[in-house]
Amino acid sequence: MFRDPSIFRDGLFAGQVVLVTGGGTGIGLAIAGELRQLGAHVVIASRTAEKLAAGAAALAGLPGTGEVVTQVCNIRDPESVAACVEAVLARFGRVDGLVNNAGGQFPSPAVMIRKKGWDAVIETNLTGTFLMSQAVAERAMLAAGRGAIVNIVAQVSNGFPMMAHTSAARAGVENLTKTLAFEWAQSGVRVNAVAPGVILSSGIDSYAPEFRKTFEDSIPSIPAGRLGRPREVAAAVAFLLSPAAGFVTGTTLEVHGGEPLFGSAAAANMRAFYAGRPTPTYE
Ligand code: ADE
Repeated sequence: MFRDPSIFRDGLFAGQVVLVTGGGTGIGLAIAGELRQLGAHVVIASRTAEKLAAGAAALAGLPGTGEVVTQVCNIRDPESVAACVEAVLARFGRVDGLVNNAGGQFPSPAVMIRKKGWDAVIETNLTGTFLMSQAVAERAMLAAGRGAIVNIVAQVSNGFPMMAHTSAARAGVENLTKTLAFEWAQSGVRVNAVAPGVILSSGIDSYAPEFRKTFEDSIPSIPAGRLGRPREVAAAVAFLLSPAAGFVTGTTLEVHGGEPLFGSAAAANMRAFYAGRPTPTYE
């Protein structure tokens, strides 16, 4: 699947430079692969050098002629973000696209989330997206009078039981998307979001097996009858970055196989997770 030709035309992003945070693994890697296959030079950024090395090696084996550059970057740290953007500008002199894909969370009932964990998730998903967007807009896009930003959020329209921190952060990013879209529209910079539903990606591996199982258990609650594929998220990103979406800004494109039409799959996940189990105790 990852090697299949893109649905979009060859050379769609030829010569463009796109920065993908969290681009070393999972959905971010699929996005980077899709854009590179369409001619873009991709800069994959992550906190972890090993993930970047593995991601760059994977990209090198996929179709595409664009360069692959890796950049260690902590999106929670304004200095690291500034250094990342400067490094991309020093290398290419431009940033045409930014995909704010990096994120992270841990499953926990809301009552058990401590402030430290809450802050970490908000900082990564909400503050990190703000810092990256601000830096790229200020240093590269606004003066150039062009650019497109896509924020990867999550399908959280019904809340997200066990994930209060990240659903609040993602809802915040969706609203931030609208504000930035408005403020930067006259400078030719578009800002949109993609909200994936349950996607079968390596991101799932970061969860404990019991929680991982809830992803498969959610299939009966997804009208499409299956989990989503990273490539299907990547295609939505490619559309929003492309001129086909030239008049699209401030929107969220949902990629979820109809999940919220059924009801909250996340709520069903939580019921399934606790079915037959003793009430959990927490430290
Ligand atoms: N992925 C998860 N957390 C991150 C962070 N703080 N910086 C960059 N990528 C990340």
